[in-house]
Amino acid sequence: MAEPGGRGSTTVYLYELAWILPSIAIPVGMLAALAVTAFGAGIHLPSDDGRVPAAEVAQTPPFDAPGVKQTAPGRYEVVMTSQIWAFAPNEIRVPAGSTVTFVTTSKDVVHGLLIPRAHVNVMLLPGQIARVTARFETPGEYPMFCHEYCGIAHHTMWGKVVVEPRS
Ligand code: CUA
Repeated sequence: MAEPGGRGSTTVYLYELAWILPSIAIPVGMLAALAVTAFGAGIHLPSDDGRVPAAEVAQTPPFDAPGVKQTAPGRYEVVMTSQIWAFAPNEIRVPAGSTVTFVTTSKDVVHGLLIPRAHVNVMLLPGQIARVTARFETPGEYPMFCHEYCGIAHHTMWGKVVVEPRS
């Protein structure tokens, strides 16, 4: 068979190989990294506090009574629900120096809870219970935002933690 390319066609083949091998190696490497992080490093959903059916969040304790309650001296638990486009409650008041545990989930779509000043950053999946604890040392306002796009009024979904000076 005539070989018009001669050595040239061998070069093309090597170029192809140089592309094909990384294009196999990269996804294989990514899958391996996923497997190692998921099963080896134990990276998983934000908490294993369980699930409630998303449509029944509003009727299921503790989410039937969202709010702030004191659980011990200096410790508070905030039961919070999220829905388009609000947190309930959307204003939380605690005294300075409080340790606050948020027990929260979404009633409808994926939302997020971001409190930058308190290093809280959690996804709120429909019906998946997320539990996150933060310390509020300094008096002031700590804005909290939904940081997962959840529809047309996503940008209006925010609230705040008001940390009051100790009396
Ligand atoms: Cu809720 Cu974005």
